[in-house]
Amino acid sequence: MAKKKYVICGVSTRANGMFIRPMLETFQAHCEIVGLLDSDASRFQNCFRKFPALAGLPCYLPDQFDQMIRETGAEVVIVAGADHTHADYIVRSLELHLDVISEKPMVTNGADCKRVLDAQETSRGTLYVAFNYRYAPIHTRIKELVLEGRIGRVTSVDLNWYLDTYHGASYFKRWNRNRNNSGGLSVHKSTHHIDLVNWWINQTPLEAFAYGGLNYFGAEGELNPAKEDGRFCGTCRVKTSCAYFMRWSTRSKETVPEDDHLNATDMKPGSYSGYRADACIFDSEIDIEDTYAAVIKYDRGAVLNYSVNFSLPYEGYRLAINGTKGRIETKEMMSSRAAYHVPEQTIDYFPLFGGKETVYVVPRKGGHGGGDPLILEDLFLGPDPLRSYDIMAGAQAGANSVLTGEAIWKSVKSGKPVRITDLLLAPELAGTTEGGSDGRV
Ligand SMILES: NC(=O)c1ccc[n+]([C@@H]2O[C@H](COP(=O)([O-])OP(=O)(O)OC[C@H]3O[C@@H](n4cnc5c(N)ncnc54)[C@H](O)[C@@H]3O)[C@@H](O)[C@H]2O)c1
Repeated sequence: MAKKKYVICGVSTRANGMFIRPMLETFQAHCEIVGLLDSDASRFQNCFRKFPALAGLPCYLPDQFDQMIRETGAEVVIVAGADHTHADYIVRSLELHLDVISEKPMVTNGADCKRVLDAQETSRGTLYVAFNYRYAPIHTRIKELVLEGRIGRVTSVDLNWYLDTYHGASYFKRWNRNRNNSGGLSVHKSTHHIDLVNWWINQTPLEAFAYGGLNYFGAEGELNPAKEDGRFCGTCRVKTSCAYFMRWSTRSKETVPEDDHLNATDMKPGSYSGYRADACIFDSEIDIEDTYAAVIKYDRGAVLNYSVNFSLPYEGYRLAINGTKGRIETKEMMSSRAAYHVPEQTIDYFPLFGGKETVYVVPRKGGHGGGDPLILEDLFLGPDPLRSYDIMAGAQAGANSVLTGEAIWKSVKSGKPVRITDLLLAPELAGTTEGGSDGRV
């Protein structure tokens, strides 16, 4: 069987760990990486240091996308750079009738959702959005319980997501902290959570109303040890007075948690040019929120009660899905960084009238609750023939969660409910000029 040819747009930490390593180590019989594209040449060198087998691979800058496709004969484009860079590569790939695998969020705003949906409509290529959270075994089991009709027609969902002080703070050190780059965390992060709900209940979000704010980070953060912009953890003179820094480090040594999901070695000085991934979480340039509570209305009657907070003592979520015949409940507390005993995650099923059933799910190893290795199998080997339901997300699913995330932050700003389809209009008609895809990390 001929190997498929892949190029990577955005040689990010995620691209290295999620795609390049498994393509070289697990799926090498099925795929070949034929080119890399990034705006920062240091990222190519960083990648070659990590994966010497790729040294000498053709490398391209953003304005050489067409040239890359022509010269490499690529068949599939993996889009894994900073979020605001996704839209142009996705749209151009679809125009060229290529298949695309995009990291989440698909794009950062409604105007770019529209561009992608229009391009997908006329393309012979297919866009897959890599919603790895869908693949965590607990999450697929929840999908199956809903599909089996155990809770009847879904009427309401409660989802409260908690990011701990390590993970939550990480977004405020990096490009993610500016809305132009990430769409804000109701897009960048909540895209996962909203997509899970959309997929579990098989309904489409219509409208969102939300409150939110910046409570922990930014210059006014209560734990800011000094009001002074432009610090970096690596060189900060007041870092030993910073509770977020000292949670993991000592006065003599900067350390990271053992399960450091940011892969700090990939972010050492020299890994990027002119950009550092350890900017101060108390900088005044931060223009996004760290706390949201939202209500979302769906097309077939369900309502979602969603909240997310980016600076909490532990990481996890609480979920309940209510239906006309019963209720599903689960609670995750991530064990690796918690300072407390963490119970095993199970799913409780409560029929409307009757006892409780506890469902134990076979765990899987790997990132994001075991979801990362499983989604890769579908992406590189094709959909699992043994699975009887849709799990791979396309452009519409990618758009539904981005639009909802944008509706959430716009509702926070305006104090009014925001209709999700309105955001597919040009940004000026939808009442904002923020967002867009022309920034650079
Ligand atoms: N699914 C998940 O669980 C998951 C986890 C982590 C990250 N991600 C996603 O992966 C992507 C990368 O995130 P990261 O934290 O690894 O990023 P990163 O900061 O490590 O890398 C961002 C990359 O984008 C590059 N870039 C900037 N402008 C560019 C342009 N115009 N064209 C091409 N490349 C450009 C930068 O030079 C850098 O190499 C993001 O979309 C993020 O949301 C997904």
